[in-house]
Order: sequence, then C-alpha cells, then structure tokens
Amino acid sequence: MDNRIAVVPGTFDPITNGHVDIIKRAQSIFDHVIVAVATNSSKIPLFNFKERLMITREVINANPCLKNVEVKGVNGLLVDFAKNHGAKVIVRGLRAVSDFEYELQMAFMNRRLNKNVEIMYMMPYIKFSFLSSSIVKEIFYNKGDISQFVPEIVIKHMKDKLKY
Ligand code: COA
Repeated sequence: MDNRIAVVPGTFDPITNGHVDIIKRAQSIFDHVIVAVATNSSKIPLFNFKERLMITREVINANPCLKNVEVKGVNGLLVDFAKNHGAKVIVRGLRAVSDFEYELQMAFMNRRLNKNVEIMYMMPYIKFSFLSSSIVKEIFYNKGDISQFVPEIVIKHMKDKLKY
C-alpha cells in the first residue's frame, strides 16, 4: 500500500497548541505528515514567511510526540504542493460553525483546482476550540499570559519580535 501522506496547512502566525493538537491527530492516522507553512494573501502577519517557517519547525522538532512530521514552506497553490509531495489528503481543523463557511469555500475551490486531493476536517480538543492566532496575539499585546495557548518556543519568539 502507498505511504499515506497528509498535508496540514496554515499561516501559523504563530502556531498554537490548537494547531499542534490537529497535527497530532493527523499523525495518528497518516504515515507521514507535512506541516505546510503558507501565505494567506488576505492576512498581514506578525511574523514573515521565513520566521513562521523557522518557528513552526522549531516547535515540531522540539516535540517528542511528533514523529514522522516535517515542516515545509508552500510557494504557490496548496493543491500543487500536495501533489508535488505525493499527498492525497489535506487536513484542516474545524473549531466551530463559524469556521465552516470559509472552509467550505476553500475546500470547493481546492477540489476545483485539483479533484484528486481530498480535504479532511478534524475537531480539536474542546479546550482549543476558541483559540486562534489572532486571539493569542491580542492577549500578548495586552501583556496577558499566553503560556497555556502556545508552545514555550513561540513565547520566546514573540518576546524577541515585540522587544518585550
Ligand atoms: N487551533 C487553533 N487555532 C486554529 C485551529 C486550531 N485547530 N485551526 C485554525 N485555527 C485558527 C488559526 O489560528 C487562524 O487564526 P487567525 O485567523 O486568527 O490567524 C485561523 O484559525 C485560520 O488560520 P490557519 O489555520 O493558520 O490557516 P489560514 O486560514 O490562514 O490558512 C491557507 C489558509 C494558508 C491554508 C490558504 O490560504 C492556502 O491554502 N494558501 C496557499 C495558497 C492557495 O492555495 N490558495 C488557494 C486556496 S483555495
């Protein structure tokens, strides 16, 4: 049987414990998981592409629970990236009904662009269902404690970036 490869894409600005939860869930089903750091042209990120790639890679490599997971950057369309890496499945997290419309639009468009790539949705652990990268940044900008929402490595990079 073919190796089952999944791509878990995101902007990861920054990666949160909710993203890590979805990556772990994908890992439990697939032989190999590629965390794909991409660009969402409608967002102005805090961390640039190179930084997001580096931070995401550091987080994944430092987590002993994450084996057979690698981090790569996406240049261009996600479906082309999946095809070029032999992945037939894209995994996304679905936190609440509010995610659904956006995800549905992306899923249909990705299918239109490449009908051979399937999109699979996974629910995060309930305590992460309200979490987002924007909320984490908002708490941090206001000097709140984000230690239960993001890996330690992310806090260090946020402090460096914002000179806290
Ligand atoms: N836990 C916590 N937060 C989560 C989450 C989870 N399980 N799942 C999603 N989120 C949050 C993120 O933190 C993020 O929050 P933010 O909006 O406050 O930053 C938001 O939900 C979604 O962001 P993310 O998961 O990083 O993905 P995205 O929606 O920004 O990513 C891409 C979209 C990158 C996958 C998409 O733009 C893409 O495919 N780009 C490549 C180019 C392409 O092919 N475009 C055509 C697409 S049809």
